[in-house]
Order: sequence, then structure tokens, then C-alpha cells
Amino acid sequence: MITKIKGTQDILPEEARFWQEIESKIRLVSKIYNFQELRTPIFEATELFHRGVGDTSDIVKKETYDFQDRGDRMITLRPEGTAPIIRSVIENKLYATPKLPLKVYYQGPMFRYERPQKGRQRQFHQFGAEAIGSDSPLVDAEMIAYAATFIASLGIANVKVKLNSLGDLSTKEAYKDKLRDYLEDHVSSLCPDCNRRYKENPLRVLDCKVDKDNPVLIDAPKPLDHLSEAAKAHFDQVCKYLEAMQIDYSIDPTLVRGLDYYTHTVFELDSDIETLGAQSTLGGGGRYNGLSSQLEGPELPAVGFAFGMERLLLALQGSGYKLEEEHIHAFMIALGDECKAESLAIVDLLRHGGLIIDYDYDVRSLKAQFKHAERFNPWFYLIFGEAEMKANTINVKDAATGEQETVEIDKLYNVLVKKIQARYHSCSGNCENCEEDC
Ligand code: HAM
Repeated sequence: MITKIKGTQDILPEEARFWQEIESKIRLVSKIYNFQELRTPIFEATELFHRGVGDTSDIVKKETYDFQDRGDRMITLRPEGTAPIIRSVIENKLYATPKLPLKVYYQGPMFRYERPQKGRQRQFHQFGAEAIGSDSPLVDAEMIAYAATFIASLGIANVKVKLNSLGDLSTKEAYKDKLRDYLEDHVSSLCPDCNRRYKENPLRVLDCKVDKDNPVLIDAPKPLDHLSEAAKAHFDQVCKYLEAMQIDYSIDPTLVRGLDYYTHTVFELDSDIETLGAQSTLGGGGRYNGLSSQLEGPELPAVGFAFGMERLLLALQGSGYKLEEEHIHAFMIALGDECKAESLAIVDLLRHGGLIIDYDYDVRSLKAQFKHAERFNPWFYLIFGEAEMKANTINVKDAATGEQETVEIDKLYNVLVKKIQARYHSCSGNCENCEEDC
């Protein structure tokens, strides 16, 4: 048997319903915040991620899926969505609009060669959003509000917003040197990974999980204490706007994030809900003012975030999110071969009218068809035998009450729509809502 590749998942129909629910919330909340969808390819030139995400990040160093295609191009399956979005904005000159910041969102599969565990796969999916072309702190705050509203729309419990600032590019570099100097004297007490990291990417030492209680890290200089005046003012404004929007947050001075492009604000949304296991970060993001120019585009200050869809799903299920019970509007039960053939036109007509209809593909007894029909949870049964065919009628049976009515075929669609509306409104078919819908 050929099985799926380690770190990938099949999304089976029952689970796909949860995905569709999350996707509908993505579209709804993105529309409310006035973001438009931008879809980029799943693979890109390898160089995009080396230059964009950064050569010193773990993602590019150890986790990308790289291959040479038949035309000898070096290709990478995208490990994240931000660098591809900026590539697309530059290539398609989307920045040439008076409507900056450009507000786009995306969703789709990403690929990282990580050690798979609950909430961590090699093929996973992200919903992300980017606001490109403004350095206003209000945009940072609005992105955090958008992310928090999205999470609230899913009813995920115990979510915390963590916030920090890395400062502008030059203060970030100066801070890194300071941190490197400090760590140099204490390197022997750091974990083996941090021994490697502190030279190339000292920021990542700050959020090391192994060393989190190590006094060396507790006493290490923090980015917030080394911000330039302008960077500090930017951060203070972000906090002020968040308070104005009544978004709860806490400042986490060790939050640095795993990608090299961040400047100024960085943030994460975590939940301690049990179903998430060790991977408690639902999503994160921040400002990345230098990425566009690093990719040879114009100066485009930008800020964004991304959520891991698999983690949202775990959190959703852990929060007891209930999907509506699945049902179909009606199940056609046709008796005998001739009626079956004749019933297909009726089914077709109802389906074209937007009703959810199914029927038995086998010619079976009335009892066997009813038994099969029950599996689909129909609101109504449509019973069509020889007598009905001759009289040009059909019997409509309410699955809940057992009441049955004989209806002329010409009137079936209207009668059924009325009955279905009544079911949606839980009324007897004559309420105000029914009248309005008509
Ligand atoms: P990231 O923190 O690398 O940021 O990923 C964002 C989210 O994707 C994580 O918080 C997590 O929920 C999910 N995720 C990451 N790796 C995996 C994995 N192996 N399995 C399952 N879920 C995973 C970014 O990707 C940035 N591009 C976010 C951003 C947008 N920053 C600015 N704009």
C-alpha cells in the first residue's frame, strides 16, 4: 500500500467541514477589514526565500524543500507566504496605487521540513494577511485587531496577544551586536543550539525554550531597552491604539520571532487550550519595513501576520465549536425502473433551483430505499411510484412529523421551498420571515 508522506495529512470529509467553517470566517473577517485575496504560486525561486526570509533563519537553513527542476532552476516549495506576496506586489507593481496601504490576505499550503508532532507538519496551511506601503503604527495596531477579531469569530478560548518591538533596522543590528557581546562571556552555560545560534542569529537565543529559566537569559539585554527614540515612539503609539481598540495584550520582552525580516512591532497569539499540545502559538507576525527593498523593490514599509490552520482546527475542536447538523433538503424515492428514469428530471429541476437533493442509485424496494435515505438525514422524502407518475403528482413526506401530502409535479418546487424555509425558521410555514424570503 502506498501511504501518505510523513508530516502530511489527508483532510477527510468530516474534518473538511471544520476547514470550510474556518475558511468562511477568513473571508468574512477579511471583508470586514477590507482586505482582498492575493494568490501566489506554491513554488518560487529558491533565492526569494534566501534573500527574503533570511539565510540565518532555521526555516531557510534547515527546513526548506528545495529541488532542481528539469530546466536546471533552483526551486523551493514556499515555507511561508510573506516573501511571495512582496515578490508579487513588486513584480505586478501593485504598489502603484494611491490606495496604500495595499491590504491583501492569502491562504494555502506551506512546506517546512520539521520534526512532525501534534500541530506541526511538513505540509501545513496558513491564513495570512499583509498591509503594504504604510509605516503608520495605526496599521500595526489594526493588523493585531484583525487577527484578534478573526480568532474571536471562531470562539477559541484562552487566547493571549503578546507584543514586543525589535526597533528599526539599524537599532536592531546595533542591539544584536550588544547581545552577541553579552552572550560571548556566558556561552558555556547555553544549550548546544544556542551555542551555534548566538553568533549568526543571537535574537533567537532570547526565546530559547531550553534555556528559558537560565539566569543568563533572564539578565540578558532586551530589545525594548535599546530602541531608538523614533522606534520607541512607534511602539508607544501601537500600544496606545491597541488600548483605544480595547485589545488585551501583554508585552513579552523576549518575543523575537523566527524570521529575519522583522523590524519594530512583533506579536503572537497563543492559547493554552489543551488540544494544542506543545504548539501553543496559533499565529504571529510583525512589521518588516526592509523586505521590499531587500527584494529590489521600492521602499514599502509593511506589517502582517499568519495563522496555522491546523492549529486553529485543534483549538476550535478543543473549544467545543459545534457545526450545524448535516442534512439534505429531500431524498427522492422512486419505485421501479421507469419511475426512476422519470424522477431524474424532477431531481434535476429541484437541484437547479438550489435545493440539496439526493436519491438511491440502485433500483430497490421502498423499505430499502427509506433505510438508505435515513443515512443522509433528509428533511423530506419525495415518493414517486407508478400511480403518482400517471397522475403527474408526487408524495412529499415530512421526515420529522411523518405527515404526507400529495403535490402536483408543477407545484413541487414552490411547495418544497416553502416547507424548507419553514424548517429554517422553525415555523409552520407562514411566519414573517417566510413572507420576507418569498
Ligand atoms: P511563522 O511564525 O513562521 O510566521 O508562522 C505562522 C504560523 O504558522 C505559526 O504561528 C503556526 O501557527 C503556523 N506554522 C508554522 N510552522 C508550522 C508547521 N510546521 N506546522 C503547522 N503549523 C505551522 C510566518 O510564516 C510569517 N510569514 C508571518 C507573517 C506574515 N509575518 C508578517 N507577515
